[in-house]
Amino acid sequence: MGKPASIFVCQSCGSVHGKWAGRCDACGEWNVLVEEVPSRHAPRKTGRKKVRGIDFVGLSGEAVDPPRLSTGIEEFNRVTGGGLVPGSALLIGGDPGIGKSTLLLQMAGHMALGGLKTAYISGEEAPAQVKRRARRLGLIDAPVNLAAETALGPILDGLTAEKPDVVIIDSIQTMWTDQLGAAPGTVAQVRACSQELTRYAKKTGACMLLVGHVTKDGQIAGPRVVEHMVDAVLYFEGDRGGQFRILRAHKNRFGPTDEIGVFEMGAAGLSEVENPSALFLDGRGEAASGAAVFAGLEGTRPVLTEIQALVAPAAFGTPRRAVVGWDSGRLAMVLAVLEARCGVSFGGKDVYLNVAGGLKIGEPAADLAVAAALASSVFDTPLPADCVVFGEISLSGDVRQASRTDARLKEAAKLGFKRALAPPPKTNKKDMPAHQLPIISISTLPDLITRVQAMSGG
Ligand code: TYD
Ligand code: MG
Repeated sequence: MGKPASIFVCQSCGSVHGKWAGRCDACGEWNVLVEEVPSRHAPRKTGRKKVRGIDFVGLSGEAVDPPRLSTGIEEFNRVTGGGLVPGSALLIGGDPGIGKSTLLLQMAGHMALGGLKTAYISGEEAPAQVKRRARRLGLIDAPVNLAAETALGPILDGLTAEKPDVVIIDSIQTMWTDQLGAAPGTVAQVRACSQELTRYAKKTGACMLLVGHVTKDGQIAGPRVVEHMVDAVLYFEGDRGGQFRILRAHKNRFGPTDEIGVFEMGAAGLSEVENPSALFLDGRGEAASGAAVFAGLEGTRPVLTEIQALVAPAAFGTPRRAVVGWDSGRLAMVLAVLEARCGVSFGGKDVYLNVAGGLKIGEPAADLAVAAALASSVFDTPLPADCVVFGEISLSGDVRQASRTDARLKEAAKLGFKRALAPPPKTNKKDMPAHQLPIISISTLPDLITRVQAMSGG
């Protein structure tokens, strides 16, 4: 057998090419093809004649829910759908420095103190560094098995001998296997190592947690290939300067994907935030123009956040549209509807939009709150400080119902808000629970503009 021919693998999308090129045909990225020598171990030809077939079962019959191991961190449990599932693999992605190692060390500490056998394998930090962090987190007494290693072979041997219930690999990008000619950190290595580790988890019933660094455009570097291998993908996000961190499920084979966990980074590590609304609205001063409080939903939990807009004359050239925490395409749509249906012009003006606290909002129900913040900035009229806003805007300028209105209103009432700007509820007024906030009905976008303009009048 001759020398195996090299292949060229795109480090961005994982596609394989026969020859080198400056640009990947599949994803269009430049300078991402890396040469790899395929596995030296060709698949063995088995001389077996008789192969046992697979056994089929029906859909009916008993299906037990998977058992769960509590992480000892309530917010983490919520995002995973009730805790870690034995025999599953989970990927935790996030920007470098966001707090992934801190979160997982805290989790390992709690689980170890709860009597589970945990192994923390660091490919990035020396044991002394991890110990120093554990001291800072108040976890030096937790019986976590710690190792610093990047070679997959010794790691798997060690795990097979030690048989831990929970394994943390920090990070998957530092792992490498000598079965491949590729350099550590390449897509091929990340894929091969993830596959081996996932297989180990399935075989032994351990919980495998893989840490993955995300590149600046939001992709886990290289391993989009890992995402489909693991049972759950969680992202740890937040703004690095601020102290809030949000854990969000992106994929979950054992639970919902719309729950979030909210944490606060402090001097002694991450602490759980039970009431995120109060945290996101903390520091809100006197009502200022351009701010609107959005009554949103994150999974089952209502979360209130402040949306800030600033509309200012453009200094020069093309006006800027800058958005933090919301979809810029959605902003363009709201601006277009405001122009077309309400005659509010944004030509020649810069528009800035910010969701306070570092939360990323994906709900269409935020449309009306964004429009209210924009209108408030354009007319330089503060919205009442005791008012929340929600509703989805259609291209015709109509405002549509948002889901679970009552949960949003209840949360707003709990935090001391007195009214809501929202589409008229379907239920009769007298059917509404007595504790509910009064709704100021906004059924079209022009209604909203009239409301905001009237506020400036008095
Ligand atoms: P780390 O968990 O190392 O991030 P990642 O593994 O995602 O790269 O977190 C690093 C940051 O967290 C670092 O900038 C310091 C900060 N930090 C605290 O503020 N308090 C703490 O108790 C700890 C351990 C870290
Ligand atoms: Mg780390």
